[in-house]
Amino acid sequence: MIRFSLNGTPAEIAPDAMLLTHLREALGATDTKVGCEIGRCGACTILHNGAPMNACLLMGWQVEGAEITTIAGIASVPAGEVLVRAMEIENGFQCGYCAPGVMMSLVGLLSRDAAPSDDMIEEALEGNICRCTGYHSILRGAKLARDMLKETTE
Ligand code: FES
Ligand code: FES
Repeated sequence: MIRFSLNGTPAEIAPDAMLLTHLREALGATDTKVGCEIGRCGACTILHNGAPMNACLLMGWQVEGAEITTIAGIASVPAGEVLVRAMEIENGFQCGYCAPGVMMSLVGLLSRDAAPSDDMIEEALEGNICRCTGYHSILRGAKLARDMLKETTE
């Protein structure tokens, strides 16, 4: 078995198991959502050692010793709490289906660059598909989080 950490808790996975399926079905971590399962929709985005990745494209052998963070662990990530607050203010949680993946893509960006440009924010969301109302409130929330983070570092 391969050992990794899930939101700070030790976990195991078979080398040939898909991380997304294992999270949801073996570990009960249903906060990470299933969409296309072929790396196109971003619903399953998690952080792998701080970098946003699609859990449907990761096999067990690829997470050996890794810190995997899902939306349930977002408060432990730098910028995580600020991003959640900003999304609440801007109503960025449009649906529970794609929001977890959107949040993990954004928190990955804000953790490595607390002052990304508008273009960088849009690029960070290129792999996250919203099929409903569009990205307006999501983008407003992301930009507010960036502005709030800037204030704390000035
Ligand atoms: S379920 Fe992984 S990208 Fe769509
Ligand atoms: S916010 Fe989930 S489909 Fe648009």
